[in-house]
Amino acid sequence: MTFDLLEWLNLAIRWFHLTAGIAWIGSSFYFVWLDNHLVPPKQGDASGEVWSVHGGGFYHKQKYQVAPAHMPEDLHWFKWEAYTTWITGFLMLVLVYYVGAESLLIDPAKARMTTSDAIMLGLGSLLAGWGFYDTACRSPLGRDNRVLGLVWFAFLLFAAWFLNWVFNARGAYLHVGAIMGTAMVGNVFFVIIPNQRKVVAALMAGREPDPALGKAAKQRSLHNNYMTLPVLFIMISHHYPMTYGAARPWLVLALVGLTGVAVRHVFNLRHRGAPTGRATLVAGAMVLVMVTYVSAEKLTLPAEAKAAEADAAPANYASVQPLFARHCIACHAEHPANAAFTAPPLGVELDSYEHVRIYAPRVKKVAVDSEIMPLGNTTGMTRAERDTIGRWIAAGAPQ
Ligand code: HEC
Repeated sequence: MTFDLLEWLNLAIRWFHLTAGIAWIGSSFYFVWLDNHLVPPKQGDASGEVWSVHGGGFYHKQKYQVAPAHMPEDLHWFKWEAYTTWITGFLMLVLVYYVGAESLLIDPAKARMTTSDAIMLGLGSLLAGWGFYDTACRSPLGRDNRVLGLVWFAFLLFAAWFLNWVFNARGAYLHVGAIMGTAMVGNVFFVIIPNQRKVVAALMAGREPDPALGKAAKQRSLHNNYMTLPVLFIMISHHYPMTYGAARPWLVLALVGLTGVAVRHVFNLRHRGAPTGRATLVAGAMVLVMVTYVSAEKLTLPAEAKAAEADAAPANYASVQPLFARHCIACHAEHPANAAFTAPPLGVELDSYEHVRIYAPRVKKVAVDSEIMPLGNTTGMTRAERDTIGRWIAAGAPQ
C-alpha cells in the first residue's frame, strides 16, 4: 500500500482552487452582465433594474447607484470567492513549484540557482507586481485607464521576459499568472471591499459617502474584468506546449493575453448593447496574428528536420533506447525512480518499444520540436540526441 500525502494534498487544493475560481469569476461576470443590462426602473427610487428568469423562478434585481434610503439588515458581500481563490492558488504555487522547484521551476541551462533563490525570486515577483500596479493606479497614470492598461501590459511583458530568462518557461508562465491573480485579489482585498465598507459606514452614520471611493473600486473592478481571460489562459497553458514551448514564450504569452483582453472587450460592448463591429475585427486580427506567429515560429523546424533527414535515420529501437533510458524513464516508468513521482506523469511510460511507439507523436512535440522534456533538462539532453530521436520517429519509429 502506498499513501502519497503530497499527491492527495495537491488534488484537494487544486480542486478547491478551481471551484473557488469558478465561483469568483462566475459571480464577477454575473455582476458585470447585470450592470450592463440595467434599465431605468418603472417605479420606485432605484437607479436601474433588470428582470430575469432562472431555475424555475423570476428574479427582479434593482440597483441603487449610491445607496438605498435604508440600509438593509442582511447585506451580502462577495469576497470569499476571491480570497479562497488566492489562498488555494498560493498553496498550489508552494506545493507544486516551490517544493518541486528543482524539476518544475529551475532550468540550469538558463540560470544556476538554489531552490531558495528560486523561491525568493518567485515570491519577489508577486510583491513587485502588486507594488508596481497599485502605485501606478494611485499615481496620475491612474486617471486614464488606457494609459494605465498600456503601462501595466508593459510591466507584465517585461516580467514574462525576465522570468523566462531565469526560470523554465512553464514556471515563468505560472508566475505571470500569479502576478496578475495577486493584483486581482489585491484589488478586492485592499481597495474594493475596504472602500465598500467605508461607504456603508458613512451611510449608517448619515453622512454623504465620498464618491472617490466608489470610483476607485469601480476602476479596480474594471481591471479585474479585463485580466480574467489572460489569467485563465495561463492556468490551462500547461496543456499546450506549443505556447510555453515556443522560442519566445513571453511573446506568445503577450499575444494570447491581448487576444483574451480583446475578446473580453467584445463581450463587454455586447452586453452594454454597444456596436461590436470594430472590436470584433480587432479581436479577430489578434487571433490571426497569434496563430500565425506561433505557426511561423514552428516553420523553421521542418527545415531543420529535413536537413537532419539527410543523415541516416536510426534503423531500430535499440539505437534510441539508451536515450530514453538516460533521459526519460526516471519519471516515465510504471514505478518512477524519481522520488517526486509515484506514477508516470500523465500516464506516459517510455520504458519499452510498445510504449514509446504509442507516444511517439507527443515525444516529438515535447522533446524534439521543443525542449520541454526532460523536465528542467536535469539530465542535460543535447540537441544532437533530440535530433536522433526525431529522425527515428520521422522514419516511422521502426522496431
Ligand atoms: C523529471 C521528470 C521527467 C523527465 C526526466 C521526463 N519527463 Fe516527460 N513529463 C514529466 C511531467 C511531470 C510531465 C507532465 C507535464 C504536465 O503535467 O503537463 C511529463 C509529460 C510528458 C509527455 C506528455 C506531454 C503532453 O502534453 O502530452 C511526454 C510525451 C513526455 N513527458 C516525454 C518525455 C520524454 C521523451 C522524456 C525524455 C527525453 C521525458 N519526458 C523526461 C516529467 C518528466
